[in-house]
Amino acid sequence: MKKQKVSVIGAGNVGATTAQLLAMGGLCDVVLFDIVDGMPQGKALDIAEACPLWNSSATVIGTNDYGAINGSDVIVVTAGMARKPGMSRDDLLKINAGIISGAAAEILKHAPSSVVIVVTNPMDVMAHLVLKATGFNSNRVMGMGGVLDAARFCSFVAAELKISPEVISSMLMGGHGDQMVPLPRFTTIRGIPVTELLSKEKIDAIVERTRNGGAEIVALLKTGSAYYAPAASIYEMVKSILLNELKVLPVSCCLEGQYGVDHVYAGVPAVLGKNGVESIIEVTLNEAEKSAFMKSVNAVKSLVESIT
Ligand code: NAI
Ligand code: 2OP
Repeated sequence: MKKQKVSVIGAGNVGATTAQLLAMGGLCDVVLFDIVDGMPQGKALDIAEACPLWNSSATVIGTNDYGAINGSDVIVVTAGMARKPGMSRDDLLKINAGIISGAAAEILKHAPSSVVIVVTNPMDVMAHLVLKATGFNSNRVMGMGGVLDAARFCSFVAAELKISPEVISSMLMGGHGDQMVPLPRFTTIRGIPVTELLSKEKIDAIVERTRNGGAEIVALLKTGSAYYAPAASIYEMVKSILLNELKVLPVSCCLEGQYGVDHVYAGVPAVLGKNGVESIIEVTLNEAEKSAFMKSVNAVKSLVESIT
């Protein structure tokens, strides 16, 4: 059977680490695209040379030619600028909007049947631009942010409780920005609500640390932003799509009436399968959660309005 093909646009920290995980997983062939001459080719060759050690039959190609993404099943967009210390995700808006619109036109031309996962920040706004520029159905354009933020939340809960992170499951909603909405009420430890095991003060501190999770790493790295957990989050989404796993994940989706929101991207629980977003799950939020979610949605909406 022909292997599926995943193309990663942008071969920087997030893109190259994603390509590495995809090649290690061996689920698909991988194309790594960047505008910098030689760099994607060098990284792809290095990853390809590791495949025998991973028992992976993936082919990995690096390129500066958009033609190589031809017929991709999934495209991951990581091209653009990352945050430097003191910068918010939103500071990247204007620079990255131009880059993303160009990439979207190439995706439409070369991979018109693909499912697109947008990662470049401010991610929810960039997903909106990709949807607009490609004209794809909205189930085929989504953003990655919530999987990462929820993983951060789980890792902080695990550290606080001194337990394995793998038994923790969490949901997070809203935009991938400072107004994101971690949801302790929907966070469980093997089914036990986190509210049974941690005090309100401890949970509030973890919520705050999650909201600042990206900035915490930027402040430590000083030269860029996080990429190991982001790439692992992208991999989780790509795998659910390629294998039609139908996982329920926090995904930035174009809301078309769900949660009372019209035509704005925001993180919501969604089922990911071979068609991309197979469905959006609507949970009943309490008043505080609803108000935090709407605040976050409105923040995305005003950024979109500022550039369109
Ligand atoms: P990076 O600087 O390491 O890589 C970005 C790459 O994009 C560079 O290799 C650059 O040459 C390339 N690029 C620039 N213009 C391009 C174009 N027109 N076409 C193709 N490639 C182009 O940055 P990093 O750390 O990989 O982050 C990438 C983006 O992802 C940033 O905007 C960052 O903020 C975002 N990000 C989003 C996350 C999320 O959860 N949504 C998590 C982590 C990063
Ligand atoms: C993060 O959350 C910068 O969005 C990126 O690490």
